[in-house]
Amino acid sequence: MKTRGFIDGEYQDGELRGMTLLAGMRGAGKTTEMDRLLQTCSGGVLFFDSLSKHAGVLKGYVVVHQPGELKAYLTRNHKKRFRILYQPRTGDFDAHFQAVCDIVKAFGWMIFGIDELDKCCGPRFGPSNMPRGLYELVNYGRHAIVSMLATARNPSRVSYDFVNECSYMRLFHMQNRYLKYFEQFIGTENVARMRSLQKFQYLLWRDGEEHAQICGGRRL
Ligand SMILES: Nc1ncnc2c1ncn2[C@@H]1O[C@H](COP(=O)(O)OP(=O)(O)OP(=O)(O)O)[C@@H](O)[C@H]1O
Ligand SMILES: [Mg+2]
Repeated sequence: MKTRGFIDGEYQDGELRGMTLLAGMRGAGKTTEMDRLLQTCSGGVLFFDSLSKHAGVLKGYVVVHQPGELKAYLTRNHKKRFRILYQPRTGDFDAHFQAVCDIVKAFGWMIFGIDELDKCCGPRFGPSNMPRGLYELVNYGRHAIVSMLATARNPSRVSYDFVNECSYMRLFHMQNRYLKYFEQFIGTENVARMRSLQKFQYLLWRDGEEHAQICGGRRL
């Protein structure tokens, strides 16, 4: 899966296509794997850095702090190759995230990565557990030519609708209580295989395939 473009109804770039969730406990390697996946992309990438702490880790990204700056940068780089790191350092976190989602939807043609998705979701947004802008991307992002990936430590805090729309999951070592949560999506047998994951390994699950694959592992 190396071609970039809107192919068979979904935007794909590098190893990414549609929606992907990377879940697992702290330090399991989620953000590092997200960085690797984004490096496989040849087109536009926007990384929403919920904790505003990855500027030193992600190489070659332009750091942006405000929606206006983001809009101006995307206007100049629309459909081209770009690497943007959005850090909501000051002001209202939810307002930043909402504005970024609206801009992503308006411009399209990009991979939208969200680090620590648990921070962007929650009951404060009503029954969908996620802000309107994200809801629209989850449900209609395909039409906006946007594919997404997100990391989360605590899957029970992430909107169910988000997880349910994911056709790929990369599941790292996690606490037993969270394994139970994933059973409804990936099945009992695949959950059982997660118990044998070594440090930095993850289970790669693809919708429609019965047997998920164990991938990753120590490499740095
Ligand atoms: N495959 C790997 N091999 C060796 N070291 C790794 C690997 N993946 C990640 N690391 C290292 O492990 C540490 C934790 O990785 P990372 O920040 O990606 O974890 P995380 O799951 O995102 O953690 P958190 O939930 O705290 O955000 C980092 O120092 C990173 O460089
Ligand atoms: Mg992380």
